[in-house]
Amino acid sequence: MKNIKLLSLLLLTAMSTCVFAQRKKETPVYKDRTKPIEKRIDDLLSRMTLEEKVMQLNQFTLGRNDNANNMADPVNDIPAEIGSLIYFSSNPELRNHLQKKAMEKSRLGIPILFGYDVIHGYRTVYPISLGQACSWNPSLVEQACAVAAQEARMSGVDWTFSPMIDVARDGRWGRVSEGYGEDPYVNAVFGVASIKGYQGNDLSGSKNVAACLKHYIGYGTSEGGRDYMYTEISNQTLWDTYMLPYEMGVKAGAATLMSCFNDISGTPGTANHYILTEILKERWQHDGFVVSDWGAIQQLRAQGVAKDRKEAALKAFTAGVEMDMMNQCYNNHLGELVKEGKVSEDLLNDAVKRVLRVKYRLGLFENPYTPYTKEEERFLLPQSLKIAEQLAEESVVLLKNDNNTLPLGNISKIAVVGPMAKSSWHLLGSWRAQGKSEDAVTLFAGLENEFRNKAQLSFAQGCDFDGDDRSGFDEAIDISKDADIILVCLGEKAQWSGENASRSTLSYPQIQEDLVTELSKTGKPILLLLSSGRPLELTRLEKLSQAMLQVWQPGIAGGNPIAGIISGRLNPSGKLSITFPYATGQIPIYYNHRQSARPHQGKYQDIPSTPLYGFAHGLSYTTFQYGDIRSSATKVKRDGKLTMEISVTNTGNRDGAETVHWFISDPVSTISRPVKELKHFEKQMIRKGETKTFSFKIDLLQDLGFIDSNGKRFLESGEYYIMVKDKKVMVEVED
Ligand code: BGC
Repeated sequence: MKNIKLLSLLLLTAMSTCVFAQRKKETPVYKDRTKPIEKRIDDLLSRMTLEEKVMQLNQFTLGRNDNANNMADPVNDIPAEIGSLIYFSSNPELRNHLQKKAMEKSRLGIPILFGYDVIHGYRTVYPISLGQACSWNPSLVEQACAVAAQEARMSGVDWTFSPMIDVARDGRWGRVSEGYGEDPYVNAVFGVASIKGYQGNDLSGSKNVAACLKHYIGYGTSEGGRDYMYTEISNQTLWDTYMLPYEMGVKAGAATLMSCFNDISGTPGTANHYILTEILKERWQHDGFVVSDWGAIQQLRAQGVAKDRKEAALKAFTAGVEMDMMNQCYNNHLGELVKEGKVSEDLLNDAVKRVLRVKYRLGLFENPYTPYTKEEERFLLPQSLKIAEQLAEESVVLLKNDNNTLPLGNISKIAVVGPMAKSSWHLLGSWRAQGKSEDAVTLFAGLENEFRNKAQLSFAQGCDFDGDDRSGFDEAIDISKDADIILVCLGEKAQWSGENASRSTLSYPQIQEDLVTELSKTGKPILLLLSSGRPLELTRLEKLSQAMLQVWQPGIAGGNPIAGIISGRLNPSGKLSITFPYATGQIPIYYNHRQSARPHQGKYQDIPSTPLYGFAHGLSYTTFQYGDIRSSATKVKRDGKLTMEISVTNTGNRDGAETVHWFISDPVSTISRPVKELKHFEKQMIRKGETKTFSFKIDLLQDLGFIDSNGKRFLESGEYYIMVKDKKVMVEVED
C-alpha cells in the first residue's frame, strides 16, 4: 500500500514537472522577460503578419482631441492591434480597458503605447518652457519633468511629446513659448535635463515616460512667425544653429523624435531623408522611432510634394518616419506599398522593430496596465508644488528697477490693477495638459497671502485684456490715487501664444497700454507684472513705469513666489533666454547673429538697432562684482587643456543667486561665425559679502571649434576670445 502511494506521488511529480517544462517551452521568446530585448523583438517580428506590422506604425486618438488646432473625429472602434493612442484622459481605467483589448483580443498581445502632450507639467503645471530657461537651473527643470512624468505615467501615459527644442528667434511665432529660447546651447542643455527628468535612468520605471524631441527640425524659424509655414535654412545654419539640441538630445537617450510640419528649403521635414535617415539613424545611430506630427504626412499634399495620401505615405516612410500620427496614410496604404515592392520588407521590419523596442524598454510587455491610484496619490504632492514654486520664482526676470522701487519696503497701501491680477486660467499658458485653473494661485491671491497684516490691498480691474471698454479706468485711477504704489498686472491670454497663435505685432493691446498711461498721470510709482508667452514690445510701457517684472505664464504655483519677490522675501535671479526687441520691426533680433560687413553702419534710421532688453539680461536686489577672467594658459595646442575661472563677489546687502554666462568669439574663421556664442553657464547662490568662483572647462573642439555645412566639427588655429559680461581674455590655439 505504502509503495503504491509513493509510486503515485512520484508519478504526479513527474507529470507536473513535465507540464511545467512543456509550458515553459511554450512561452514564446518575445514574452520571456529573461531574454534580451533584441531577441524578443526578432521573435515577435517573425510571428507578425504584414497587417499586424502596419498597425504597429499608426497612432490614433482615444477620445476627442482637446487641442483646438487638431480636431478630428475620435476613432470609435479602435483595433486591438493599434500601435499607439493619444490619451486625453487622466483616468487609468480607460487606458486599462483599451490595453486589455490589445493584450487579450489581438493575436499576439502586443501592448499599446499611450502618448500625450505633457509639455510643462501634467496636473502640476509649471511655468512655460521659455520661462523655465530663464531660471538657468537645468537640474530644477529635470526635477519638474520627473514630477510631470510621475503624474502622467501613474495616470496612464507612457510617452510625452516633449521637450520642444526648436531654437526660436521670432516672438511673433506663438510656439516660442514652448521652447527654451533663441540659443542652440540653451535648448540643448534644457532639452537634455528634461529627457533625464522624463526618462530617469531606466525607461521601465513605473514613474518614467519616454521623451520625444520635437519638431525635427527648423520649425522655430517659420517664415514671418506664421505657424506651419515654409522655412529657409541653409545647410550651414541647419548645422550650426538647429542641430545641436537634437544631437545632444539623441546622445542623452531620447527614445523618440517627432518630425516637423515645415518645409525646409524645398523639402518638408516629414519627407526629408537626409535629416531623418542619413543624420538621425545612420550618423547618430538613433534606435528609437520617429512619429510624424499630427497630420504632417497627409499635409505633404498641401506642401506640394505628394499627389495623394498613398504617395505621402511612401515619401514619409522611406524618408524615415516610422509612426503615422493621425494621417490615415500608413494604415490605409503602407501594406499596399509593400506588396507593390515600393517599400521594402526590410524597411518595414526596421520600423516595426524601432516601435517595439521603445515598448519593450518601457516595460509594457511586462506591465501593460496602469495600477489604479487615487488622484491625491498622484497629483499636486507637496514636493511637486514646492518645485513648481521654486521654478516659477527662478523664472521671473526683473527687467527694470529704477531707484530700487522693488522690493516694497514699508509700503502700507498697494493698488492692484489689471486684467491679469485675478486670472488663474491665463497663468497656465498653452499645453496645460490636465492643469486646472482652480489649482492656480492668482497674482492677487499671492499678494494677499504675502501682505496680510503688512499692507492694505485694493483692487480694480481697470480693463479687459483687449477691446476698447475704458469704463473701468476711473475706478482704477481712484484706488491708485490713494495708494503708495500701483501694481499693474498685464499680459496675454493663454490662447494668444502656443500652436497656431501667431501675431503680427508684439505690442501690448492698446487698451492695456492706455490703462497704464492713465494711471501714470496719478504720479504714483508703477510696478508692472507682465505675464506672456513670448517676448513683447515693452518700449512704451517701460517709460511709464518704475519697475517691471516679466513673470511669463508661471503655472499653478506662481502667485506666492511672485508676491515674495515683490515684498523682498525672495530675491529675483532670472535672466532672459530670449531677446526683447525695441520694436517688432527689429525681428529677427538675437544676440548670436553673424558678423555684418559694416558693423557700425546699416542701422535703422527711425529706431535704435539694439534691443530693449538683450539675452541674459536680468536684475537682482543685490549687486555682484566680477573679477577678471583667469585663464590656465594663453596659448594652447589643439589637443591641450584649458580652464577659465572668474570670481564673483556679492557686494550688496542681501543674499542672491547669480548666473555666469561664458561666451566665446572667433573673430577670424573659414566660416563667418556668430559675434558671440554661449558655451557654458553656471548658477550659484552667493551670500552677501561672499565671493564664489565660477569655472569653465573648455573642450577645445566643442567649445572653440565650429561645425561646417556637413556637420563636421573642426578647430582652426588662431585667436579666440572668452567672455563674461564685459570681461574678456584672448587665447591662442596653436597647431
Ligand atoms: C503639435 C505637436 C503635438 C501634436 C499632438 C501637433 O499639432 O504640433 O507639437 O505634439 O499636435 O497633440
